[in-house]
Amino acid sequence: MKMEEKLVLVTGGAGFIGTHTVVQLLKEGFRVSIIDNFDNSVKEALDRVKEVVGPALAAKIEFHFVDLRNKDDLDKVFAKSKFDGVIHFAGRKAVGESVEYPRRYFDNNLIGTINLYEVMAKYNCKKMVFSSSSTVYGQPEKVPCVEDTELKAMNPYGRTKLFLEEIARDISQAEPDWQIILLRYFNPVAAHESGKIGEDPKGIPNNLMPYIQQVAVGRLPELNVYGHDYPTRDGTAIRDYIHVMDLADGHIAALKKLFTPDFKGCVPYNLGTGRGTSVLEMVAAFEKASGKKIPMKLCPRRAGDATAVYAAVDKAAKELGWKAKYGIEEMCRDQWNWASKNPWGYQGKKA
Ligand code: WQD
Repeated sequence: MKMEEKLVLVTGGAGFIGTHTVVQLLKEGFRVSIIDNFDNSVKEALDRVKEVVGPALAAKIEFHFVDLRNKDDLDKVFAKSKFDGVIHFAGRKAVGESVEYPRRYFDNNLIGTINLYEVMAKYNCKKMVFSSSSTVYGQPEKVPCVEDTELKAMNPYGRTKLFLEEIARDISQAEPDWQIILLRYFNPVAAHESGKIGEDPKGIPNNLMPYIQQVAVGRLPELNVYGHDYPTRDGTAIRDYIHVMDLADGHIAALKKLFTPDFKGCVPYNLGTGRGTSVLEMVAAFEKASGKKIPMKLCPRRAGDATAVYAAVDKAAKELGWKAKYGIEEMCRDQWNWASKNPWGYQGKKA
């Protein structure tokens, strides 16, 4: 199928996963419209995307400074362009912040998405790739996590993802002409090989890899290791870290699946490597890739953390023809390349 005529709307396209997916969409020949309100991203990230793809493909990007909670503004975007499909990233995603400000998470993540469904239906655009998360597995009893495992959420952020999956299933049940794919990311890390785009969290990072990165560049003094008495090979918790470029390619595979006539309904897929890595193993791999020593402080477990979470990967391989290509070494190499070139992220060191 010829992609160049297809126009895809990417909500949250200035964010970490969004920017990397936009780069891959353009390389695959899609035209791209981006919606972002820069709530957790910056315009500089889009300028960098244009540098990465070059002027010819950059000309195929349209940007709308829109908050999904403003339904009128969102309607204007759909009134202007006929979208063939939507990749929906926009949403807040920090577990700790969601515990502190649950109303902000329900407002932003739920209201924004419900508006999106309403406006998509009005303009008869019914193909959606939705950014879900392994957090819907809660503290899995069994690993690897299989897609039809019982779902439960451990925090308001996870609950928004779970609620939005249920909303997608209900819409698809009531209106069979919707085609929806739910992508459950495990732990996204790393950066584009150019080192021009990467994750740039605001404030002190919640997640492991951006935190390690900031210790490596000297922005933070040491890494707190949350828990070293887990029943694992080295006592630290295990996660399925996945390269953001693998994640981006997973979205392309899902989008192409939506354009195939045989795809029906609302279907979840794990996007993981199927391999687990402990905190200490990740630190060692990053030290090797960066040549930097990461000072650590062993601390008590973090509330809500699971011992081990990693993906069953057969379903995405079989039905999307997608599997992760990169291992921990490449993830640390690319994370360090981004960090060393952008020690203070997109905006540089605050004066
Ligand atoms: C990983 C491991 C921590 C920080 C969350 C969301 C998930 C996804 C990724 C959005 C854990 C340990 C961490 C630190 C540490 N987000 N750690 N010191 O909690 O697995 O997943 O982020 O899609 O949905 O649930 O990721 O990177 O916070 O933690 O020891 O400073 O690293 O205890 O074992 P998590 P994480």
